[in-house]
Amino acid sequence: MARLVRLTATASHKIDPATLPPGKMLSICVCGLSQNMPFCDGAHKITKLEEPGKLYIYAADGKTVLEVRDDPTPTSPATASTPIAPSSSPTVS
Ligand code: FES
Repeated sequence: MARLVRLTATASHKIDPATLPPGKMLSICVCGLSQNMPFCDGAHKITKLEEPGKLYIYAADGKTVLEVRDDPTPTSPATASTPIAPSSSPTVS
């Protein structure tokens, strides 16, 4: 299972930690279907219906499957991630 998602952003979405509710965990969308990027809005639940070896093309609403093709480059599905802990700045080499 994989999906093609049309995204038009050309810059990052910065999150000011000071605006986050203290002690609450936020989920970042990694399925590409959220209507509230960069945050997960639960839209990923539809991906549970996706079949391995298929490539899904969704409408901009993130809910409507426009087309299903055989996936020319199938990959293993990503699994639920572990929480990302704050870390030091990445090193550029
Ligand atoms: S991971 Fe994309 S909506 Fe939840």
